[in-house]
Amino acid sequence: MEESFYQSTPEQLQKELLFVVQGLKGQILNQSSLAVGLEWKKSLSAENEIKVIKANNEEQLKKVCQEMANCQLCQLAKTRHNLVFGDGNPNAQIVFVGEAPGADEDEQGLPFVGRAGQLLTKIIEAMGIKRKEVYICNILKCRPPGNRNPLPGEISLCEQFLKKQLQAISPKVICALGTFAAQTLLKTNVPITLLRGRFHSYEGIKLMPTYHPAYLLRNPSAKKPVWEDVQMIMKEIQP
Ligand code: URA
Repeated sequence: MEESFYQSTPEQLQKELLFVVQGLKGQILNQSSLAVGLEWKKSLSAENEIKVIKANNEEQLKKVCQEMANCQLCQLAKTRHNLVFGDGNPNAQIVFVGEAPGADEDEQGLPFVGRAGQLLTKIIEAMGIKRKEVYICNILKCRPPGNRNPLPGEISLCEQFLKKQLQAISPKVICALGTFAAQTLLKTNVPITLLRGRFHSYEGIKLMPTYHPAYLLRNPSAKKPVWEDVQMIMKEIQP
């Protein structure tokens, strides 16, 4: 029978097959290195994005701090020694919000540095975190004379700065320490005993109210519920 013009010899077939296989191999290698390259590029841009967000938080926080430097909005400006803006990591996952600076805080310009502050540091460390990893601030940035309770007018004038601080940091969880912090942030009159122990929402951020460390100094038996509350926060911030 006459061989058709397209029929190949076994040797030719072998060569053709080898050529096809080598071509396919090349294509597969090209595509996978392209995919690896793309993944690498993606991870690089994600890293850069995180760096930008981190720098932004710090910048925004600085702006809020500058905005309220030498604030004269309320009468507390006349009696304060230092405005206590806040302290800690601008990229913190947790922000602790207290009531107002006391005598030690007013003297040093830093939040929670007195006896209640030392207890707060112990609570934070018991959570397995360093104090410098979280952010700490107060509802009021200036000390009410004689440590009296904050007045509604003082809270409403000062609250805007806390709001901007929390927006800048954008933490995963806010821990409101005591009645004033919890009730101010949640816009409620419900007592802290009923608010604590479960998450609420503050502008889309999870908020856990708990007892104030100063209350714990007077009522050590309240340490147990506080420990339960902070354990819920720890679960929330686990990666
Ligand atoms: N109590 C607070 O509420 N805030 C402080 O900074 C210190 C004590």
